[in-house]
Amino acid sequence: MLLNLCRFTSKLRMSPKPNLLLRYMTVADLPEVMEIDRLSFEIPWSEKSYRYEMAESEQSYMVVLEWHQERAATRWQRWLHIQPYAERRVVGYGGMWFISGEAHVSSIAVHPRGRGRGWGEILLAGMIRRGLILRAEEVALEVRVSNQRAQSLYRKYEFKTVEIKPRYYRNNNEDAYDMRMDALDPTVCRRFKERYNTLFTRFRLTDKFSGQSPPRG
Ligand SMILES: CC(C)(COP(=O)(O)OP(=O)(O)OC[C@H]1O[C@@H](n2cnc3c(N)ncnc32)[C@H](O)[C@@H]1OP(=O)(O)O)[C@@H](O)C(=O)NCCC(=O)NCCS
Repeated sequence: MLLNLCRFTSKLRMSPKPNLLLRYMTVADLPEVMEIDRLSFEIPWSEKSYRYEMAESEQSYMVVLEWHQERAATRWQRWLHIQPYAERRVVGYGGMWFISGEAHVSSIAVHPRGRGRGWGEILLAGMIRRGLILRAEEVALEVRVSNQRAQSLYRKYEFKTVEIKPRYYRNNNEDAYDMRMDALDPTVCRRFKERYNTLFTRFRLTDKFSGQSPPRG
């Protein structure tokens, strides 16, 4: 386990501009997603909840960010026409509900070893764009008052605190900020589109999530 984490980190260091793919979460992703969830939150979601959100809920949009690296073929592999081994990892995930014109970010997390590289931003931007395509009037979320790192990401994407929800988190009675992005404000939307487009120059990124419908069932 520790060895795997070390290998993962050294791979990340070796590859300054890895291939990144934003796509819908599948059942096959659950072991990696639930590991990131467990490392990120005090109250992780159950496997049943993930399966429900992916397959049954009509309002849910579950996303993963996948990192992958293709190795160059060796001389022997070329000679034998063998595809070189490709590596892939789920490095973060998110969830969004779309209900009555509100896109609500239900979860977002990046593997602790992958944080600070802009990957949380990719996940958030993907979910906002999905919401805008569904014609959301606002994008909303709750965040712990102590979680300054996440708040700073949300502020970068023009979320504003509209309310404090007292003792929202049941494990320690911590308050939550209710933060919202006004999707009806054309200036906010224009700046969002600019930020979303910038991600494609910053990263070797493919987005197969935000413009597509979920594969339900
Ligand atoms: C919140 C989280 C998803 C952010 O993902 P990330 O990949 O680390 O963040 P990014 O590298 O994409 O950073 C994007 C922005 O977030 C903010 N940010 C990131 N790391 C930060 C830090 N250590 N301190 C302050 N702000 C920070 C900055 O605004 C940053 O923009 P900048 O690079 O232009 O300064 C990640 O920290 C995480 O998984 N945390 C644990 C789970 C969690 O708290 N989820 C949120 C629940 S509401």
